[in-house]
Amino acid sequence: MIVITVVATKGGVGKTTIAANLGGLLRDLGLRVLMIDADVQPSLSRYFRLQHDAPNGLTALVTSGFLSADCMSTVQLPFGAYKDVAKYPLLPDIKLVRSDTREGNLQDWLAPRLDRLVRLSMPLRHQNVQEQFDVVIIDTQGALGYLQDAAINAADLLVSPATPDVISAREFIDGSMKLIDRTEEAANLGLKVPPMKAVINRLENTRDSRVMSELIREDFMRLKGRVTVMRTVIPSIVAFKKAATMQVPVHWIDPERAGQVMHELLWELIPSLAGRYAPNHPNPGQQACGGTEPSPLAIQSEASSTAPPQ
Ligand SMILES: Nc1ncnc2c1ncn2[C@@H]1O[C@H](COP(=O)(O)OP(=O)(O)O)[C@@H](O)[C@H]1O
Ligand SMILES: [Mg+2]
Repeated sequence: MIVITVVATKGGVGKTTIAANLGGLLRDLGLRVLMIDADVQPSLSRYFRLQHDAPNGLTALVTSGFLSADCMSTVQLPFGAYKDVAKYPLLPDIKLVRSDTREGNLQDWLAPRLDRLVRLSMPLRHQNVQEQFDVVIIDTQGALGYLQDAAINAADLLVSPATPDVISAREFIDGSMKLIDRTEEAANLGLKVPPMKAVINRLENTRDSRVMSELIREDFMRLKGRVTVMRTVIPSIVAFKKAATMQVPVHWIDPERAGQVMHELLWELIPSLAGRYAPNHPNPGQQACGGTEPSPLAIQSEASSTAPPQ
């Protein structure tokens, strides 16, 4: 079982979008997915429709230290217009631990506890959880806090989206520095600091956006290898918003562009999945002749980001 936590010290950079879409794609690849909404604002909890809304959520998970059945809601996929079972097959349901701590009570509960850093990793380490799921995706809030610390500490891998605009880029580097310093304090206490992968999200086809994207890459070099910037870049694509409105993963709405990028992102994060496509992918057979080379579509999307501004 692998735990991926999506973090950033800023809101609106695409954490929930990436968490929900990675979860949806992993499910379509046949993996058993648990999503945990560790944001005080319950955005991931609302991304998908629920087939079963469990009575409890994050608070019970963190305070009891167990992932009991009454904390796990069930996502409803597929539904409605997506009835083509060959393309949208009935696969294992995504389980979701809803955020239910709007008033921030959980942060207050965590504050005085010596074991606050392990309150999320602990329940996930149980053997029955390890056997029940292949991947856990944790979404977090865009601010430093005890809940975020616990979510980082539970992760095998951190994914941190950065948007390449002038205001965000600087804030992103400063925020990431703070985040890394904070996690390294935990490391001094003998706790795990997972590798952090930054992903440039919402790249616009403009000169400014590309300059900022390069600035982020260069600034990260100064973080002395503590963060790597991912090769996969997520362009700004309207399908992401559309997918969120329709409560489905983006590769259902736009398999060729957004879907391809999400596959590339997932493969870069979990290389053992490289070449595996969701059943609705327009050309799932291309791996047979394409080997392990990046697909033409991926090269195209990178190339298009260097085209002159329109
Ligand atoms: N690559 C993208 N292209 C277009 N819109 C995006 C992209 N990524 C995120 N968005 C949109 O940006 C907004 C903020 O994203 P969200 O995932 O909620 O950010 P966060 O969780 O970091 O606050 C949402 O409306 C989402 O649909
Ligand atoms: Mg969010």
